[in-house]
Amino acid sequence: MHMKHDQREIAPPTVPVTYILEDPESLTDSDKAQYTLMGSRGQNLLEIALDADINIEHACGGVCACSTCHAYINEGQGSLSEPQEDEEDRVEEAPGLQHNSRLSCQCIIEGDGPIVVQIPAWNRNAVKEVPH
Ligand code: FES
Repeated sequence: MHMKHDQREIAPPTVPVTYILEDPESLTDSDKAQYTLMGSRGQNLLEIALDADINIEHACGGVCACSTCHAYINEGQGSLSEPQEDEEDRVEEAPGLQHNSRLSCQCIIEGDGPIVVQIPAWNRNAVKEVPH
């Protein structure tokens, strides 16, 4: 499921965002583990990945109501929006919490980057699919 773009003004894509996938096959059906994409100020890290078919889990659709889009920000924290209290509360529920944990849907690009985001291997496993 792709998130729809809303009516925000999106700047030209000038901010390099590198995604490091610990378990690439579960997210992309490929074994390529690193992607460098160009993002725009005003976009969040989840939507940039989804637009490039990097299928980060996003059970709530990107409204800060789950923790499945959990990611580690390895570089470029200063180019992202500050976490709000509701994000901080949610991210604490994510498995594998680290000092650089964020919810990728809540990380809005505000600076020039570069940004390096690591997607933990358990991203897919956090939500178990019910067998049919
Ligand atoms: S997709 Fe649910 S909090 Fe980010």
